[in-house]
Amino acid sequence: MRVGVLVSGRGSNLQALINAYNEGKIKGEIALVISDNPQAYAIERCKRHGIEYAVVERREFKSKLEFERRMVELLKEKGVELVVLAGFMRVLSGEFLKAFPMRVINIHPSLIPAFQGLHAQRQALEYGAKLTGCTVHFVSEELDNGPVIVQACVPVLPQDTEESLSQRILEFEHKILPQAVKWISEGRVEVEGRKVVVKGAIYGTLPVN
Ligand code: GAR
Repeated sequence: MRVGVLVSGRGSNLQALINAYNEGKIKGEIALVISDNPQAYAIERCKRHGIEYAVVERREFKSKLEFERRMVELLKEKGVELVVLAGFMRVLSGEFLKAFPMRVINIHPSLIPAFQGLHAQRQALEYGAKLTGCTVHFVSEELDNGPVIVQACVPVLPQDTEESLSQRILEFEHKILPQAVKWISEGRVEVEGRKVVVKGAIYGTLPVN
């Protein structure tokens, strides 16, 4: 499967995907990375690994629609079949999603539906949650919502800061995002309403296989 990855910043989740492809864990390839931020460190990762990338900045376009159309055009040109939002900090419209029906996924640093939106880790700390985690889900028009593909659970420790908690969650993001892309690439993921069924997956604290 040809995958397109949308990023806005550091790109550590992109790196986890690159590593999984390089290790032969996922079939197919990253056909294109699009960054909406020309300063994103994710771009350095593309250069280092010889991955094609494009910078598409929102301010270059009159409307959100035109901005998104440009991204769709680039992704389609590269034959992308699955779009992965890996720290892409914009909400996509229904128009974009229609171009890739049930083929846009996102990684979010909480157990959705808890702590949606920005600063999910800070929200978990401020709420006093004792468990949080991360989620890979299909993207719907609602922010940080849509059918859940895989989640991992992480404890919130008494001494945690936003940074220490984010780091603990991130380690699991780097496991579940490649896992979800692998499953979809192998054609094992079926969606029935809100419920996602992964054929042959073994469910535990961290689903595998
Ligand atoms: C990750 O923690 C990701 O879950 C989060 O941004 C970070 C990006 O890190 N995404 C969201 O909060 C989306 N609502 P990365 O650039 O190192 O992958």
